[in-house]
Amino acid sequence: MHIIKRFIDLKRLLDDKQRRSPNQIVGFVPTMGALHEGHISLIKESCTDCDMSICSIFVNPTQFGESNDLEKYPKPIEKDIELLIDIGCDVLFLPTVEEVYPPSYTQQNFDLIGLDIVFEGKSRVGHFQGVCNVIYRFFDQIKPHRAYFGQKDFQQTVVVKKLVNITSLNTKICVVPIKREPNGLAMSSRNVRLSDNGRKKAAFINESLRLIKNNFREIGLSKSIDLAKKHILKYDNAKLDYLVVAETDTLKGVETYENKKLVALTAVNYEGVRLLDNIILT
Ligand code: PAF
Repeated sequence: MHIIKRFIDLKRLLDDKQRRSPNQIVGFVPTMGALHEGHISLIKESCTDCDMSICSIFVNPTQFGESNDLEKYPKPIEKDIELLIDIGCDVLFLPTVEEVYPPSYTQQNFDLIGLDIVFEGKSRVGHFQGVCNVIYRFFDQIKPHRAYFGQKDFQQTVVVKKLVNITSLNTKICVVPIKREPNGLAMSSRNVRLSDNGRKKAAFINESLRLIKNNFREIGLSKSIDLAKKHILKYDNAKLDYLVVAETDTLKGVETYENKKLVALTAVNYEGVRLLDNIILT
Protein backbone atom coordinates (compact mmCIF):
# COMPACT_ATOMS: atom_id res chain seq x y z
CA MET A 1 0.00 0.00 0.00
CA HIS A 2 1.28 3.47 -0.88
CA ILE A 3 1.22 6.00 1.96
CA ILE A 4 1.07 9.50 0.52
CA LYS A 5 1.00 12.83 2.31
CA ARG A 6 0.81 15.43 -0.46
CA PHE A 7 -1.80 16.03 -3.17
CA ILE A 8 0.94 16.50 -5.76
CA ASP A 9 2.38 13.01 -5.08
CA LEU A 10 -1.07 11.44 -5.12
CA LYS A 11 -1.88 13.11 -8.46
CA ARG A 12 1.44 11.91 -9.87
CA LEU A 13 0.65 8.33 -8.82
CA LEU A 14 -2.87 8.52 -10.30
CA ASP A 15 -1.58 10.00 -13.59
CA ASP A 16 1.06 7.30 -13.79
CA LYS A 17 -1.51 4.52 -13.26
CA GLN A 18 -3.90 6.04 -15.82
CA ARG A 19 -1.06 6.25 -18.35
CA ARG A 20 -0.19 2.59 -17.87
CA SER A 21 -3.77 1.33 -17.85
CA PRO A 22 -6.24 3.98 -19.08
CA ASN A 23 -9.89 4.24 -17.93
CA GLN A 24 -9.21 3.00 -14.44
CA ILE A 25 -12.04 3.66 -12.00
CA VAL A 26 -10.79 5.37 -8.85
CA GLY A 27 -12.71 4.90 -5.59
CA PHE A 28 -12.23 7.16 -2.58
CA VAL A 29 -13.14 6.60 1.08
CA PRO A 30 -12.66 9.72 3.24
CA THR A 31 -12.26 8.94 6.95
CA MET A 32 -10.93 10.48 10.13
CA GLY A 33 -9.23 7.23 11.13
CA ALA A 34 -9.88 5.02 14.19
CA LEU A 35 -11.13 2.56 11.58
CA HIS A 36 -13.80 0.04 12.53
CA GLU A 37 -15.92 -2.47 10.63
CA GLY A 38 -18.12 0.33 9.31
CA HIS A 39 -15.14 1.92 7.52
CA ILE A 40 -13.88 -1.49 6.43
CA SER A 41 -17.20 -2.16 4.68
CA LEU A 42 -16.81 1.12 2.73
CA ILE A 43 -13.27 0.26 1.64
CA LYS A 44 -14.28 -3.28 0.68
CA GLU A 45 -17.13 -1.90 -1.43
CA SER A 46 -14.69 0.47 -3.14
CA CYS A 47 -12.19 -2.37 -3.75
CA THR A 48 -14.99 -4.46 -5.31
CA ASP A 49 -16.34 -1.66 -7.54
CA CYS A 50 -13.14 0.15 -8.52
CA ASP A 51 -9.72 -0.55 -10.05
CA MET A 52 -7.97 1.51 -7.43
CA SER A 53 -9.06 2.49 -3.91
CA ILE A 54 -7.78 5.43 -1.89
CA CYS A 55 -8.61 5.86 1.79
CA SER A 56 -7.83 9.19 3.46
CA ILE A 57 -7.25 9.63 7.17
CA PHE A 58 -7.56 13.28 8.14
CA VAL A 59 -9.09 14.60 11.35
CA ASN A 60 -10.64 17.68 9.82
CA PRO A 61 -10.44 20.60 12.29
CA THR A 62 -13.03 22.70 10.45
CA GLN A 63 -15.89 20.32 11.21
CA PHE A 64 -15.38 20.41 14.99
CA GLY A 65 -16.98 23.13 17.08
CA GLU A 66 -15.90 24.70 20.35
CA SER A 67 -16.04 21.35 22.17
CA ASN A 68 -12.88 19.37 22.84
CA ASP A 69 -14.15 16.57 20.56
CA LEU A 70 -11.21 17.30 18.24
CA GLU A 71 -8.59 16.60 20.94
CA LYS A 72 -10.53 13.56 22.16
CA TYR A 73 -10.71 12.03 18.69
CA PRO A 74 -8.81 8.68 18.81
CA LYS A 75 -5.74 8.44 16.53
CA PRO A 76 -4.55 4.79 16.39
CA ILE A 77 -2.63 5.28 13.13
CA GLU A 78 -0.42 2.14 13.29
CA LYS A 79 -3.47 -0.10 13.78
CA ASP A 80 -5.32 1.71 10.97
CA ILE A 81 -2.41 1.15 8.57
CA GLU A 82 -2.33 -2.58 9.38
CA LEU A 83 -6.08 -2.86 8.77
CA LEU A 84 -5.84 -1.05 5.43
CA ILE A 85 -3.00 -3.31 4.27
CA ASP A 86 -4.99 -6.39 5.34
CA ILE A 87 -8.03 -5.48 3.28
CA GLY A 88 -6.01 -4.57 0.20
CA CYS A 89 -6.48 -0.81 0.07
CA ASP A 90 -4.17 0.61 -2.63
CA VAL A 91 -3.39 4.05 -1.20
CA LEU A 92 -3.57 5.70 2.20
CA PHE A 93 -3.70 9.47 1.87
CA LEU A 94 -2.47 11.00 5.12
CA PRO A 95 -2.18 14.77 4.67
CA THR A 96 -1.28 17.38 7.30
CA VAL A 97 -3.63 20.25 8.16
CA GLU A 98 -1.29 22.62 6.22
CA GLU A 99 -1.53 20.41 3.13
CA VAL A 100 -5.34 20.43 3.14
CA TYR A 101 -5.70 24.05 4.23
CA PRO A 102 -2.63 26.03 3.10
CA PRO A 103 -2.41 29.66 4.32
CA SER A 104 -3.83 30.83 0.96
CA TYR A 105 -7.00 28.72 1.46
CA THR A 106 -10.22 30.57 2.30
CA GLN A 107 -13.03 28.51 3.83
CA GLN A 108 -15.99 28.40 1.45
CA ASN A 109 -19.60 28.82 2.43
CA PHE A 110 -21.71 26.48 0.31
CA ASP A 111 -25.40 27.11 -0.28
CA LEU A 112 -26.85 23.81 0.86
CA ILE A 113 -30.44 25.11 0.89
CA GLY A 114 -30.71 24.59 4.64
CA LEU A 115 -29.74 20.89 4.68
CA ASP A 116 -26.76 21.84 6.85
CA ILE A 117 -28.62 23.68 9.60
CA VAL A 118 -31.21 21.11 10.71
CA PHE A 119 -30.78 18.12 13.07
CA GLU A 120 -26.99 17.59 13.42
CA GLY A 121 -26.39 21.03 11.95
CA LYS A 122 -28.54 22.68 14.61
CA SER A 123 -26.58 21.16 17.49
CA ARG A 124 -23.20 21.40 15.76
CA VAL A 125 -23.26 24.80 14.09
CA GLY A 126 -20.91 25.00 11.10
CA HIS A 127 -20.20 21.24 11.17
CA PHE A 128 -21.46 20.49 7.64
CA GLN A 129 -19.77 23.53 6.12
CA GLY A 130 -16.55 22.08 7.57
CA VAL A 131 -17.34 18.66 6.08
CA CYS A 132 -18.10 20.25 2.70
CA ASN A 133 -14.87 22.25 2.70
CA VAL A 134 -12.74 19.16 3.24
CA ILE A 135 -14.73 17.01 0.82
CA TYR A 136 -14.65 19.71 -1.86
CA ARG A 137 -10.90 20.03 -1.42
CA PHE A 138 -10.36 16.26 -1.67
CA PHE A 139 -12.71 15.71 -4.61
CA ASP A 140 -11.36 18.73 -6.48
CA GLN A 141 -7.75 17.56 -6.13
CA ILE A 142 -8.16 13.77 -6.38
CA LYS A 143 -11.11 13.67 -8.80
CA PRO A 144 -12.30 10.19 -7.77
CA HIS A 145 -14.96 8.55 -9.94
CA ARG A 146 -16.77 7.22 -6.87
CA ALA A 147 -16.73 8.07 -3.16
CA TYR A 148 -18.10 5.93 -0.35
CA PHE A 149 -19.94 7.18 2.74
CA GLY A 150 -21.68 5.28 5.53
CA GLN A 151 -25.45 5.47 5.94
CA LYS A 152 -24.81 5.90 9.70
CA ASP A 153 -24.16 9.59 9.02
CA PHE A 154 -27.30 9.87 6.91
CA GLN A 155 -27.51 13.67 6.94
CA GLN A 156 -23.88 13.85 5.83
CA THR A 157 -24.69 11.69 2.78
CA VAL A 158 -27.55 14.04 1.81
CA VAL A 159 -25.35 17.12 2.32
CA VAL A 160 -22.46 15.68 0.29
CA LYS A 161 -24.81 14.70 -2.57
CA LYS A 162 -26.05 18.32 -2.55
CA LEU A 163 -22.46 19.60 -2.58
CA VAL A 164 -21.67 17.52 -5.67
CA ASN A 165 -24.90 18.72 -7.24
CA ILE A 166 -24.21 22.46 -6.76
CA THR A 167 -20.53 22.36 -7.77
CA SER A 168 -18.81 21.05 -10.85
CA LEU A 169 -17.59 17.95 -9.02
CA ASN A 170 -18.01 14.76 -10.96
CA THR A 171 -17.90 12.11 -8.26
CA LYS A 172 -20.66 9.55 -7.74
CA ILE A 173 -21.67 9.28 -4.07
CA CYS A 174 -22.19 5.69 -2.94
CA VAL A 175 -23.95 5.08 0.38
CA VAL A 176 -23.12 1.86 2.22
CA PRO A 177 -25.54 0.35 4.81
CA ILE A 178 -24.88 0.74 8.54
CA LYS A 179 -22.67 -1.85 10.23
CA ARG A 180 -23.96 -2.76 13.68
CA GLU A 181 -22.56 -4.36 16.80
CA PRO A 182 -24.30 -7.68 17.67
CA ASN A 183 -26.77 -5.83 19.96
CA GLY A 184 -27.77 -3.44 17.14
CA LEU A 185 -25.70 -0.40 18.19
CA ALA A 186 -24.51 1.41 15.06
CA MET A 187 -20.72 1.16 14.76
CA SER A 188 -18.93 4.44 15.38
CA SER A 189 -15.46 5.58 16.40
CA ARG A 190 -17.15 7.16 19.42
CA ASN A 191 -18.40 3.81 20.82
CA VAL A 192 -15.04 3.22 22.53
CA ARG A 193 -15.85 6.15 24.82
CA LEU A 194 -18.83 4.27 26.32
CA SER A 195 -18.39 2.08 29.42
CA ASP A 196 -18.68 -1.69 28.76
CA ASN A 197 -22.12 -1.68 30.33
CA GLY A 198 -23.14 1.47 28.44
CA ARG A 199 -22.08 -0.08 25.16
CA LYS A 200 -24.35 -3.06 25.84
CA LYS A 201 -27.27 -0.93 26.95
CA ALA A 202 -26.94 1.54 24.05
CA ALA A 203 -28.87 -1.02 21.99
CA PHE A 204 -31.94 1.00 23.07
CA ILE A 205 -31.18 3.60 20.38
CA ASN A 206 -31.66 1.20 17.51
CA GLU A 207 -34.58 -0.44 19.35
CA SER A 208 -36.35 2.93 19.47
CA LEU A 209 -35.97 3.37 15.69
CA ARG A 210 -37.27 -0.13 15.13
CA LEU A 211 -40.31 0.75 17.22
CA ILE A 212 -41.11 3.44 14.65
CA LYS A 213 -40.49 1.14 11.69
CA ASN A 214 -42.65 -1.64 13.16
CA ASN A 215 -45.57 0.57 14.20
CA PHE A 216 -45.93 3.64 12.00
CA ARG A 217 -48.25 2.05 9.43
CA GLU A 218 -50.65 0.91 12.13
CA ILE A 219 -50.63 3.81 14.61
CA GLY A 220 -49.26 6.67 12.47
CA LEU A 221 -45.97 8.53 12.54
CA SER A 222 -46.58 10.82 15.46
CA LYS A 223 -47.67 8.07 17.90
CA SER A 224 -44.84 5.78 16.84
CA ILE A 225 -42.32 8.62 17.36
CA ASP A 226 -43.77 9.14 20.86
CA LEU A 227 -43.32 5.41 21.59
CA ALA A 228 -39.70 5.61 20.49
CA LYS A 229 -39.01 8.74 22.57
CA LYS A 230 -40.50 7.09 25.66
CA HIS A 231 -38.25 4.07 25.09
CA ILE A 232 -35.14 6.28 24.98
CA LEU A 233 -36.09 8.30 28.03
CA LYS A 234 -36.39 5.12 30.13
CA TYR A 235 -32.58 5.05 30.19
CA ASP A 236 -30.74 7.06 32.83
CA ASN A 237 -27.90 9.12 31.38
CA ALA A 238 -29.70 9.32 28.01
CA LYS A 239 -30.39 12.81 26.67
CA LEU A 240 -32.38 12.90 23.48
CA ASP A 241 -31.24 15.63 21.08
CA TYR A 242 -33.64 14.85 18.23
CA LEU A 243 -35.74 12.01 16.89
CA VAL A 244 -37.48 12.90 13.65
CA VAL A 245 -38.98 11.36 10.55
CA ALA A 246 -37.97 13.16 7.37
CA GLU A 247 -37.97 12.80 3.59
CA THR A 248 -34.78 11.02 2.55
CA ASP A 249 -33.65 13.55 -0.07
CA THR A 250 -34.86 16.92 1.30
CA LEU A 251 -34.70 16.11 5.05
CA LYS A 252 -38.06 17.87 5.42
CA GLY A 253 -39.91 16.67 8.53
CA VAL A 254 -43.23 14.95 7.71
CA GLU A 255 -46.47 14.10 9.45
CA THR A 256 -47.91 11.62 6.96
CA TYR A 257 -46.10 8.92 5.05
CA GLU A 258 -48.07 8.33 1.84
CA ASN A 259 -45.89 8.04 -1.29
CA LYS A 260 -42.81 9.46 0.35
CA LYS A 261 -39.36 8.03 0.89
CA LEU A 262 -38.78 8.42 4.61
CA VAL A 263 -36.02 7.99 7.15
CA ALA A 264 -36.15 8.17 10.96
CA LEU A 265 -33.10 9.91 12.40
CA THR A 266 -31.92 10.31 15.95
CA ALA A 267 -29.05 11.67 18.05
CA VAL A 268 -28.79 10.69 21.70
CA ASN A 269 -26.19 11.75 24.24
CA TYR A 270 -25.48 8.70 26.35
CA GLU A 271 -22.83 8.62 29.08
CA GLY A 272 -21.71 11.93 27.60
CA VAL A 273 -21.16 10.43 24.12
CA ARG A 274 -23.11 11.67 21.11
CA LEU A 275 -24.56 8.62 19.29
CA LEU A 276 -26.32 8.80 15.92
CA ASP A 277 -28.53 6.26 14.23
CA ASN A 278 -31.18 6.09 11.52
CA ILE A 279 -33.49 3.66 9.79
CA ILE A 280 -35.09 3.79 6.35
CA LEU A 281 -38.88 3.53 6.74
CA THR A 282 -40.18 3.45 3.18
O1 PAF B 1 -17.68 10.98 8.33
C1 PAF B 1 -16.51 11.34 8.58
O2 PAF B 1 -15.69 10.61 9.14
C2 PAF B 1 -16.09 12.76 8.20
O3 PAF B 1 -17.14 13.65 8.34
C3 PAF B 1 -15.46 12.84 6.78
C4 PAF B 1 -16.46 12.43 5.71
C5 PAF B 1 -14.24 11.93 6.71
C6 PAF B 1 -15.02 14.26 6.47
O4 PAF B 1 -14.04 14.70 7.35
